[in-house]
Amino acid sequence: MCGIVGYSGHRQAVPVLIDGLRRLEYRGYDSAGIVIAENGGLAIEKRAGTLEVLVQALQGQSFTATTGIGHTRWATHGSPSDTNAHPHTDCSGRVAVVHNGIIENYRFLRSWLKSEGHIFRSDTDTEVLPHLIEQYYRGDLFQALSLALERVEGSFALLAMAIDEPGRLILARQDSPLVVGLGMGENFIASDIPALLTYTRDTYILNDGEMAEVTPDGIKVSDFKGTPVFKEIFHVNWEAEQAEKAGYDHFMLKEIHEQPHALRETLRGRVDENARRVLLDELELDSGLVRNLKKVFITACGTAYHAGVIGKYVIEKLARIPVEVDIASEFRYRDPLIGPGDLVVVVSQSGETADTRAALREARRRGAHVLAITNVVGSSVAREADSVLYTWAGPEIAVASTKAYLTQLAAFYLLAVWLAEERGNLPGDAREGILRALREIDAGVETLLADAGRIAALARRYHERECLFFIGRGLDYAVALEGSLKLKEISYIHAEAYAAGELKHGTLALITEGVPVIALATQPDLFEKTLSNIKEVKARGAEVVALTFAGEYDTEDVGDHLIHLPPTHPVLAPILAVVPLQLFAYYAAVFRGCPVDKPRNLAKSVTVE
Ligand code: AGP
Repeated sequence: MCGIVGYSGHRQAVPVLIDGLRRLEYRGYDSAGIVIAENGGLAIEKRAGTLEVLVQALQGQSFTATTGIGHTRWATHGSPSDTNAHPHTDCSGRVAVVHNGIIENYRFLRSWLKSEGHIFRSDTDTEVLPHLIEQYYRGDLFQALSLALERVEGSFALLAMAIDEPGRLILARQDSPLVVGLGMGENFIASDIPALLTYTRDTYILNDGEMAEVTPDGIKVSDFKGTPVFKEIFHVNWEAEQAEKAGYDHFMLKEIHEQPHALRETLRGRVDENARRVLLDELELDSGLVRNLKKVFITACGTAYHAGVIGKYVIEKLARIPVEVDIASEFRYRDPLIGPGDLVVVVSQSGETADTRAALREARRRGAHVLAITNVVGSSVAREADSVLYTWAGPEIAVASTKAYLTQLAAFYLLAVWLAEERGNLPGDAREGILRALREIDAGVETLLADAGRIAALARRYHERECLFFIGRGLDYAVALEGSLKLKEISYIHAEAYAAGELKHGTLALITEGVPVIALATQPDLFEKTLSNIKEVKARGAEVVALTFAGEYDTEDVGDHLIHLPPTHPVLAPILAVVPLQLFAYYAAVFRGCPVDKPRNLAKSVTVE
């Protein structure tokens, strides 16, 4: 969603702000703007469109300001336009604000402020903030914002500055991420860590209900009333280039190739050296709760939801516990039958997805124990859950999730084996077989990545098709869901995932001469059934790309094109099978000239409903 940057220090502010906004571009936006304290006033430049449009508007101007704030906006209220771009100011033009989130009671506030004589220029919800501050401003921006926030309902990460208080930035966080970067004689603010890494790795991660005053020489964190809050420094271990492309053409390709490393990091220290046990002491899960667990619920959005579908299969298969899996935007409104003694697993790469966070709150409100699987330390989901099982995939910049998804699968395998062990439902040798294979699965991914050229050739063959089908049974169907989404979201080719056994109940009518069908056939107990579905579609003219293990399944009628997976335990096949599908989607998008890392209409983190 929106990106926020702020700077107060000894450098020229404009280059720092633009650099920071560039590193947040992946978050998805449709306009950008900055405001600096210049020549006794607030100088503002803001434009609809990409950051380049803003940079062009700044060309030829010279600035000396050393304090400023910047913003990239993903429109929610008010169309993308210069006027609706942030920053927004009060009537006098002496207070400027940038904001990420939604002010839910902005209509009421806007009409009240208008009745108080305020003049509004934009259609945004955000603009009520500078006018509210103006309403309460008596020379102290912190106090004015503190009073203003008493009137505000909704989510916000906001940053404000006033021309009468040079060098001073005031920020507040509720339901939307904000991080402060600590420097020497300078301090930085951003909505995400990659924007800070050029300058500092020491940060304060603000929590909901916290404000901060930032000047070149100090950072004071407090609650909304001004009561000081002690903050631990969070030292960022990511290398700056980790958030860069590291030589790949796109973040997405880089992140696909980072998957072996991401898997190793996520498994590190969580399987004992004899591969007999899963070590998840980090989970604050009472063993009594686990032993008496009647049902597990999993809820998430998009790709994280697809990881949850795999989670359902493996927890039921290994731990023998019933599992329900729900799209979070459905879960939160369906009055779910959950309560104390239930385990709800929420999955979110960013940890900021609005629907997932709302589902988490709903689960907690009903007394369930919430376990978060997330990739971002300090994210809202991480802080609001009862337990957290972090995926250590490192920053995922591309809008299309790949390495985060793979590490979410790894997390579910760890959780499933751990639950099985806690409940005595999985014999030691079966457990060991899975854990050994899990510890070596990164090598299988490496093998598939080395074969990317063959996948690229298949993508070139099909990249101009109008529609593709992905079919499979059981775990293969769950992987088909993810393969289909990947292709749709970055290549814009329509695709549909279908349970292979369900095709004949209608959708088979769409299978005609030359229609590409990607068939996953990795599960031994379902192979023959899937093979008959492959024959079903081939008989109607489909061109089949089959993913299967080499060897006994290598029959000539499996498909027109075969993608062999390296050997592994069949239950772990999804970790391998998804890799060719990610590469297929990536290359199809490249051949179609699509903006792979920033697909149209999409954002990396959907922090609004
Ligand atoms: C994944 O490729 C998509 N970009 C999207 O479906 C994403 O998985 C979804 O928005 C959930 O995001 P989260 O994992 O950060 O909660």
